[in-house]
This record gives sequence, structure tokens and C-alpha cells, in this order.
Amino acid sequence: MCQGGCMRIKYLAFLLASLISTTTLAAIPGLRDDISPTRLQVGAAASAKLITSGTDTKYASVLAHEYNLMTPENDLKWGTIHPRSGTALSSYNFAPGDTDAKFALSHGMHMRGHTLFWARYNPSWLTNGNYSATQLTDLLTNHIQTVMTHYKQYFPGLIVYWDVINEIKNAGSGVWAPIGNSFKIASIALQAARKADPSAKLCLNEYSMEFSQNIYQNPTYLLAKQLKQANIPLDCVGFQGHIGSNSVSETKWRTVFSAFAALGLEVQVTEFDAYYAPSQQYTNVVKACLSVSKCSAFVTWGFTDKYTWLGTSKAPLPFDAQYNKKSAYTALANSLLGK
Ligand code: G3I
Repeated sequence: MCQGGCMRIKYLAFLLASLISTTTLAAIPGLRDDISPTRLQVGAAASAKLITSGTDTKYASVLAHEYNLMTPENDLKWGTIHPRSGTALSSYNFAPGDTDAKFALSHGMHMRGHTLFWARYNPSWLTNGNYSATQLTDLLTNHIQTVMTHYKQYFPGLIVYWDVINEIKNAGSGVWAPIGNSFKIASIALQAARKADPSAKLCLNEYSMEFSQNIYQNPTYLLAKQLKQANIPLDCVGFQGHIGSNSVSETKWRTVFSAFAALGLEVQVTEFDAYYAPSQQYTNVVKACLSVSKCSAFVTWGFTDKYTWLGTSKAPLPFDAQYNKKSAYTALANSLLGK
């Protein structure tokens, strides 16, 4: 006789537990709620494969709860999105990027477009193709046109910032080198991007600029200056911010951000992670970003130590491998709150 009643009680208990856990998550503010009004977007790199994982559902729920910006870690790179040779639409694989885009859209997030050009992670048909400078230029401009048009058309307004160029300082040794020097490559790519989506903000994304002895002599700074002087469309510069065993002070961050801001560019932190004194590193960079009015986004490269390109043991992210908030999370949240 107890059977039906017990089942009902168990079901009610389950419903109550679900309600409490949903309410609890909604009641706890995420990083996206800590941001000073409209000033700074806070984001993380993520992947379609993990977002749709049937076994690790916490990944998607934490991502959506905490962030209002996401960067596909690999899903928009040539190696993923353009796996077959040629310029026809059938050469492209938009599925992973579209999964990311739908997720972002349904959770009120924006997406950063990463990346339309890189010397690495290119498909073998491109790297082994022995293409001429003219052919490479055509492939590059076609790719930019096709990918940007796809996201503009199917997800209008979702991707505002595009890393048009990733790591230009390594371009000379990669597949694109026949096109010419950094200025020529960047000019071609940026002009193609402006044409494809005139409302998008176009970025150079670079690593280790925060370690420059003199930022005004840094090759990417000099290139950005040259591009601006030549009226090539360039709106922002991304600082990847992979901090290893060298710490970077708040003052140093402010100096390098300010140098680019003085060129009229927005600056963004696009791939942050830190494994040496991480809490201090998070504090330094976020405080510096908030102190420079043109700093408009702070993005970490992943968010849980469970999935980081550096390996879980390096523990460079705000959440541990079980999705517990770490001291780096507290440092980040407090800095966003201006504490
Ligand atoms: O998805 C395949 C999987 O099917 C296959 O079994 C496995 C075997 O190696 O490879 C998987 O692909 C890997 C992919 O990450 C997804 O995990 C690639 O081999 C691997 O090369 C790729 O590494 C990425 C790397 O860029 C190259 O694209 C990292 O995840 C990603 O974190 C890293 O990100 C870069 C930024 O784009 C630019 N700045 C530096 C940053 C860190 O290197």
C-alpha cells in the first residue's frame, strides 16, 4: 500500500531538489553579473563538442551562467571550418561553429570570431598545396568573405569582434608567407573583412606583448601603427595573455593597453590563463583593463581546469576540474566589482 505513496513522495522530493538547485544557481550571481554596466564583456573559450556533451552537462550550465561572451577555441579555425579544398560552400564545415553560435544566442551571449588567419592549424590541403601568392590571396579573401558572411547572415549581431589576424609575428614562417610581409598580409585580410561585414570590429590578436621591454618597439605595435597611418581598417588589438612563470604587474598591463589605445584602438584580453600565482595575475590584468577606457573584453582560454590546452595539472583557470570556484575566480570577480 505504501508503494504508490512512496513513489509520489520520492517524485515530489526530486522535483523539490531540482527546483532548489535551479533556484540556487540562478540566485548566485555569475561573473557576467559582476561587470560594470555595459563596459566590459567577460568570456571564455569553449567548444561545440563539450557544449553538447551528454556526460558533462555542467560544462554548458556553468558557461552560460557565468559568461556573456564565448570564443570558439578551435571551431572557427581553418582546420575545422574549411576542411576541403576550394572556395565553394561545399568546402566548408559550419556545423561546430553554428552549434557554438546557437548556444551563445540562446543564452544571451556574444561570440568572438577566432580566427580568419593563422599560420597554424590549417588543413593539409592548404599547407601542402604549393599555392602561388595570387592563389593564396584569393583563397584568403574568399575564406574571409564566406565565413563572415555566413555568421552575419544566419546570426546577425552575434559576432561583433573578429580576430582577423592571429599571431602575425609568425606569419613569415607559415603557409601564407608567399603573399608578402606582415603589412601586406594584414592589409589584404583586414580590407576583405571590412568588405564582408562593415559593422564588425576587426582585430589583430597577439601573444606576449605584455613581456615587451619597450612596447613602442614591439613588432605588432609597429604594425598596428603603420596600418592605422595607412587607413587600413583596424579596430582593436587582442592580448592573448598566456601567463606562464613570469608575472605581469598591473602597471605593465596598463602601459601596454594604453599604448594601443592611444592609436585609437580598442584593446581586449582574449585568451587569458595563468599558472604562477594565478590570483595575483588575474587581479593585475583585470584591474588594468578596467582602468583603460578602451579595454572592452576579458576572456579566459577555457574556464575549467578539466579542459585546458595547458593540461589539468597546470590549473590556470578560474574553475577547478570539478567546477569548484578557485581563488582565481574570487580574484577575478572582486576585480570586476572594483574591490
Ligand atoms: O579534435 C581532434 C580530435 O578529433 C583528435 O582525436 C585529436 C588528436 O590529437 O586532436 C583533436 O584536435 C586537437 C584540437 O586542439 C582539439 O582538441 C588538435 O590536435 C590540437 O592541435 C588543437 O590544439 C589547439 C591549438 O590552438 C591549435 O589549434 C588548442 O586546443 C587551442 O587551445 C589552441 O589555441 C591557441 C589559440 O588559437 C591561439 N593562441 C594560442 C592558443 C594556445 O595554443
